[in-house]
Amino acid sequence: MVELCGLELAHPIINGSGTFDAIAARRAFGEQLLERFPFAAFVSKTVTLTPREGNPPPRLWELAGGLINSIGLPNKGLAGFLAEDLPQLAELPVPVIVNVMGFSRQEVAELVQACSARPEVAALELNVSCPNVETGLVMGADPDELARLLARVRPLTDKPLIVKLTPNASDVVAVARAAQDAGASALSLINTLRGMALDPRSGEPWLGGVTGGVSGPAVRAVALAQVHAVCGAVQLPVIGMGGVQRGRDALDLIRAGARAVAVGTESFRDPAAGDRVAAELELLSASADGAQLVSPQPF
Ligand SMILES: Cc1cc2nc3c(=O)[nH]c(=O)nc-3n(C[C@H](O)[C@H](O)[C@H](O)COP(=O)(O)O)c2cc1C
Repeated sequence: MVELCGLELAHPIINGSGTFDAIAARRAFGEQLLERFPFAAFVSKTVTLTPREGNPPPRLWELAGGLINSIGLPNKGLAGFLAEDLPQLAELPVPVIVNVMGFSRQEVAELVQACSARPEVAALELNVSCPNVETGLVMGADPDELARLLARVRPLTDKPLIVKLTPNASDVVAVARAAQDAGASALSLINTLRGMALDPRSGEPWLGGVTGGVSGPAVRAVALAQVHAVCGAVQLPVIGMGGVQRGRDALDLIRAGARAVAVGTESFRDPAAGDRVAAELELLSASADGAQLVSPQPF
């Protein structure tokens, strides 16, 4: 059992927002999915106030060590999510964490209030990787901007508020401290790193969104460094993520101070990755000589 800001998790492995579609997976795998759900909590993909189409294609570029995505947060919007998706997600055998993003403090406030009012929602995760249209500042890249956001939304809910930090900040530790001081219940990191690819034939940007977010094994060392730095600076529980493919990667993040670990990009390759990583982690943790089970090879 793992306690994460009041949630009781059967093991420390959850999913990264936007990387596992539980509703589509249930269509594909049927009731088997519920009998052996790969994660100890389910995090929804980001929900915005109004519906979004997402970015124009192409939306993905495969790297040697992961992906660049410029999906652009397509979703049904708050009303569509609450009416259609949330009742289905509530049938999952694990707590549901709803990830929300707004383009102003008022938008985030509306999302938090509406989601928090629903009993199916165990906790909220704030995706603060986008600019505030009122100030032009990325909410999660500036400590003062994040403090102002939390001052507005923290009083609106008694449920745990997890702040998902962006690695695209000059001082992630300062942002983490600001989140703690302003009443965040937990932190999650890392979100994707900004990256770009060119079409080798035309030399033009490959992605429809021009730049995108880098994820997967390519970002693992960055994630470990940021989780280590943040865990050394705050007392809040931390959900570590970034490039986790195996139990050993999860163990590294836990050794760096994370309470729970999210699996993201790896679930596209192996939809049962969450379950596998949890089993591998348990094996490593149960062994008194856990360290010896871990190969010193980097891959
Ligand atoms: C295709 C894709 C879609 C994603 N969508 C979201 C999202 O909707 N909201 C969010 O907060 N993070 C999103 N993420 C970021 C992941 O949740 C995670 O923070 C990041 O990918 C690092 O973990 P990983 O290397 O294990 O994938 C997305 C990542 C990918 C690859």
